[in-house]
Amino acid sequence: MAGMNASDIVEAPSWSIRPELPIDLDQIHELHRQAFPGPAEAELVDAIRAGAGFLPELSLVAVAADGSVLGHILISVVGFELDPAGSAQVQALVLAPLAVMPPHAGRGIGSALVRAALAVADQREDAVIAVLGAPSLFGRFGFNPAAVLSVGSSVDSTGPAFQVRSVGGRPIEPGTVMYPPMFKVTSP
Ligand SMILES: CC(C)(COP(=O)(O)OP(=O)(O)OC[C@H]1O[C@@H](n2cnc3c(N)ncnc32)[C@H](O)[C@@H]1OP(=O)(O)O)[C@@H](O)C(=O)NCCC(=O)NCCS
Repeated sequence: MAGMNASDIVEAPSWSIRPELPIDLDQIHELHRQAFPGPAEAELVDAIRAGAGFLPELSLVAVAADGSVLGHILISVVGFELDPAGSAQVQALVLAPLAVMPPHAGRGIGSALVRAALAVADQREDAVIAVLGAPSLFGRFGFNPAAVLSVGSSVDSTGPAFQVRSVGGRPIEPGTVMYPPMFKVTSP
């Protein structure tokens, strides 16, 4: 094309994002084994998938053209106890875990997975979405320290890593995210 040189050519991403399929499951498990120091997150994914809070449309994979899974994000449903404690229990979402195959980190796959999953989550009506992770990573997606928003956790010692974000732009009500027992293995 006239006036175009090599540096203008933007390579199309060699991966795409879609909901998980049965054929991905072993690779998803292996991905979390490789991305995290121990087996806890891989086992958490399998436990969530087998549980009542699993949402198939919120288990997203980034896949290469050859079908290899490069990244995975899981958002699932947990309980949310509105303040004052015991007054009412509704639903919250939890983003956990998120992982990208180590050799493919730093290519924007993690960010793309978060954005895609939040776009789906924003169509829902849950009270809040919670994450345990680096504030420097999740702050850019609209997560804020949960304590500032008067949101607590049923898991001890969450600290500044415990962050929450509105679902669908609605205001966040004070309350407590009620993690099912399967999440205890990954509390920091
Ligand atoms: C965290 C992770 C998912 C990021 O995936 P990625 O594809 O490398 O992310 P991106 O390329 O979109 O980069 C997003 C940003 O996150 C930053 N980042 C990556 N890992 C981070 C970490 N552990 N803490 C803080 N920031 C981190 C990157 O530096 C980048 O920041 P920049 O845009 O300012 O340069 C990936 O590194 C990973 O799998 N890590 C191990 C598992 C993990 O810690 N998961 C998160 C907690 S559930």
